[in-house]
Amino acid sequence: MSIDFSNNDVSMDELEPLVTTSLTREDEAEGSLRPKRLKEYIGQEKAKGNLEIFIQAAKMRNEPLDHVLLHGPPGLGKTTLSGIIANEMGVNVRITSGPAIEKPGDLAALLTNLGENDILFVDEIHRLNRSVEEILYPAMEDFAIDIIIGKGPSANSIRLDLPKFTLIGATTRAGQLSAPLRDRFGVTLRLELYTPAELALIVTRSAGILEVPIENEGAMEIAKRSRGTPRIANRMLRRVRDFAQVMAGGVITQSVADRALTALEVDYLGLDAIDRRMLTAIIENYSGGPVGLETLAATINEEAVTLEDVYEPYLMQMGFLTRTPRGRCVTRRAYEHLGIAFRGGGMEQLSL
Ligand code: ADE
Repeated sequence: MSIDFSNNDVSMDELEPLVTTSLTREDEAEGSLRPKRLKEYIGQEKAKGNLEIFIQAAKMRNEPLDHVLLHGPPGLGKTTLSGIIANEMGVNVRITSGPAIEKPGDLAALLTNLGENDILFVDEIHRLNRSVEEILYPAMEDFAIDIIIGKGPSANSIRLDLPKFTLIGATTRAGQLSAPLRDRFGVTLRLELYTPAELALIVTRSAGILEVPIENEGAMEIAKRSRGTPRIANRMLRRVRDFAQVMAGGVITQSVADRALTALEVDYLGLDAIDRRMLTAIIENYSGGPVGLETLAATINEEAVTLEDVYEPYLMQMGFLTRTPRGRCVTRRAYEHLGIAFRGGGMEQLSL
């Protein structure tokens, strides 16, 4: 399996943030933590169950797996899953991303270099540009691409056959995919935020690989504060390990995890400084909402897409935030969590 991470943003901060949209240097080093087979992959039971059947059927027919679209919030294991699918199918995976494929020629080069039944994984597939996307249609449908040779009246189109392959597209925003592209995926799997119990198993598994002693309560403390996301849980595990080494003889206990994560400004429900700023701004500047996403983003000086893709899914899952046709509203629960007196407004004001 060849994994090429060269297209991912790499943060150069000394202490990398716990919540980001992209892979950081540490995540790249986490190759050893990634499960390699479906049976090692924890959680996502629905997606896993379906995949198991599709993989088995494709193998029995000696065909490539149908094209797969994976969608859901960042950090839930879309890249990991593509590696697992490749291992289960016994083929190679080539990893790239929508913004990295700038020209039709870039995509043509990737496709013509695939082996029979190989997998092409395209992260952030909603960011492919139009001219590249159009090459992808016949490639997905007929395993062929049309190449134009020459210019003007003497230009000629020749059809180039490709090896049969599987496209795995990953996106945080399935709604932004064009209909023709979406329709060409035979399988669509939605990845959900993980439960604390699933995350505790992931943290315990990762600690075992990193050879860090961890108590069950320590794993659960990290799990409860990692906003449903394995990537964040594994980052927290590394930070907590540092505290454990310096303060507690290396063992990750609940109290070490609590002290470490509190020092990193992650509260007991996993909210970080940006989550709290977001909720507080809606309460203090917009009486609890509704407020439009762009207005809110400008108010707290963050990118609207980051708030929407990274922060909102967890705040909504926790019941702190709602999306309404008129904008974002905080709930009474958010006031209570932040220790701010509830004055009405938000959901109640809209009488939803
Ligand atoms: N590491 C990251 N995601 C994982 C998962 N779903 N199962 C096991 N280990 C993981």
